[in-house]
Amino acid sequence: MKTKILITGGAGYIGSHTAVALSDAGFDPIVIDNYSNSDKSALQGIKNILNADIIHYEGDCNDAALMDKIFTENDIAGVIHFAAYKAVGESTAQPLKYYQNNVGSLMVLLDVMQRHQVKDLVFSSSCTVYGQPEVNPVEESTPRKAAESPYGNTKKICEDILVDYVKSNATVRVVALRYFNPIGAHATSEIGELPLGVPNNLVPFVTQTGVGLREQLTVYGDDYNTSDGTCVRDYIHVVDLAEAHVKSIQYLEDKPDTFYDLFNLGTGNGNTVLEVVKAFEKVSGKALNYKIGPRRPGDVEQVWANTDKAEKVLGWKSRMTLEDALRDSWNWQLKLSNQQ
Ligand SMILES: NC(=O)c1ccc[n+]([C@@H]2O[C@H](COP(=O)([O-])OP(=O)(O)OC[C@H]3O[C@@H](n4cnc5c(N)ncnc54)[C@H](O)[C@@H]3O)[C@@H](O)[C@H]2O)c1
Repeated sequence: MKTKILITGGAGYIGSHTAVALSDAGFDPIVIDNYSNSDKSALQGIKNILNADIIHYEGDCNDAALMDKIFTENDIAGVIHFAAYKAVGESTAQPLKYYQNNVGSLMVLLDVMQRHQVKDLVFSSSCTVYGQPEVNPVEESTPRKAAESPYGNTKKICEDILVDYVKSNATVRVVALRYFNPIGAHATSEIGELPLGVPNNLVPFVTQTGVGLREQLTVYGDDYNTSDGTCVRDYIHVVDLAEAHVKSIQYLEDKPDTFYDLFNLGTGNGNTVLEVVKAFEKVSGKALNYKIGPRRPGDVEQVWANTDKAEKVLGWKSRMTLEDALRDSWNWQLKLSNQQ
């Protein structure tokens, strides 16, 4: 019998790639998603890659009765909790929606895990908790900053809840993962990022502009204190990121019954917005229509990860380059556009 891992938000961008990575590593992924920010087509994509169906439930992980049913019907060994809302701007306009879903779903999950004696939890956090750090690259011990948005605050609060819960001696083993900037798609173009409406992130905006869905990319500010004046981020291929979740689940297997650890997941390198644009132009062979606009309030100037801890402790390191990721994002975009 394969070990069953529940993936909340498993039809989403990172969750769908993690379902594939878990299955490739010999686990049995089970997905719950309410499709609030995804599409059932992701399950078909996963199926096409794996040549097999995976167990999936449609519903909300705030629904304690449904969660209870899932844990009763399946002998779940661990959970990877992706389900959350993630649009920074929307979180400022509708903070309660974010606190309710992102914090509320973690509370429901911890309760159902405890009742079913499931110990292992991998939680999706974010580099947003660092704000603008004093020094780059940031280490896990770098102090967190006051959150710039309710979304960012939900990640801080969820980390704090997990730390307090572990401190209470609860039977739970937790890994919190602070993602930097996931980009790319599966090499088969069967799954990838599916932004609803105008993308909030750079790379989907770039690929949509490249394919003609958007007229022009605006680069927000070129007067920052960086090599070319544009903001710096640590862009990590989503397939690399997915593999770190497998490592995290495996890492928890021999840990004491009460345990917490935390890892940065990035490449360890920063790239400017204009470097991303140039790399995109190279892999796509297209000139991107972009203009330089004013700075966007709330944008962090530069942040990238120190990933030594993940390498040393989890035995994980990102393998793919910025160009690999942009090529996969571009192929995914081409596939989506051909379907329209
Ligand atoms: N993509 C990023 O840039 C990034 C960076 C840092 C952290 N994260 C975190 O990683 C996680 C996954 O991000 P993603 O990019 O895959 O986002 P995503 O929106 O593609 O995936 C989240 C999935 O969760 C589902 N969902 C949301 N609320 C739910 C609920 N209550 N019940 C059931 N399903 C629900 C959505 O439909 C979606 O399929 C999130 O927690 C996000 O905050 C993402």
